[in-house]
Amino acid sequence: MSDQGLAVSAPYAALSHRHDELATRGWTVLTPEEFAHDVEGVLHGFGPIVPQFNGQTAFAITRKPGYEDLPYSQSMNGIGPHTEAPVYGPPPRYLALHCLRQATCGGGHTGLVDGIEFLRSLTSSEPELREWLDDHPVEFVATAKPGEPDQRRVLEYILTPTASGDIFRFSYNQFHYGDVNPSKQALEQSQVADSDTPLARFARLGEAYFVEHNTPVLIPDGCLLIWDNWRMIHARSRYSDPARHLTRYWLG
Ligand SMILES: [Fe+2]
Repeated sequence: MSDQGLAVSAPYAALSHRHDELATRGWTVLTPEEFAHDVEGVLHGFGPIVPQFNGQTAFAITRKPGYEDLPYSQSMNGIGPHTEAPVYGPPPRYLALHCLRQATCGGGHTGLVDGIEFLRSLTSSEPELREWLDDHPVEFVATAKPGEPDQRRVLEYILTPTASGDIFRFSYNQFHYGDVNPSKQALEQSQVADSDTPLARFARLGEAYFVEHNTPVLIPDGCLLIWDNWRMIHARSRYSDPARHLTRYWLG
């Protein structure tokens, strides 16, 4: 009888190892059995679910027409290394992807690497560049949806200390094309290629670090990937299976 009482009062008590994993490694994967298909219920244990660019709390990551040439979530294209929503103050603390149906084509991985570790590596390998980052804020721009006029724009440091923890920001699309969600026209000219600015060098070093050190995660059907968005850089590999369907959540 007492066991039943415990199960009802603390349905997710067995998830402490997932919280530990998230804190130590920066990401974790929950199996469907661990959250009994109550995605929003289990996410509340990690943080409040907050609205995304379009005002919704659950965003479909699946192929939609009109984005075939863009590195956008609702295309099947690869998306370069980034932290989510760097134009938000603060950006979502955690990101979650619930996999309804994973790609079966060999692509569609979520790559993850520790951005704070990357910055630490620069302290010894590129001390002047690392100092430059502390002295120079970077403009981040986000068009809510490619091709639409709504834009958010902020000036933020790559690493921002706050009372709740350090916030790391990185965006391949921003550094190369001047927008987190670039238009087709913006994609024609990279601001990083052939550029010697400190930000361009930082972008190239970050990309190289990601390629060398990232863990590619192919979230199994039904599972829930959660990562620390103030710490981890993520990216998506290109895929060709149109049935791939995930739901994205932002946690405050
Ligand atoms: Fe993302």
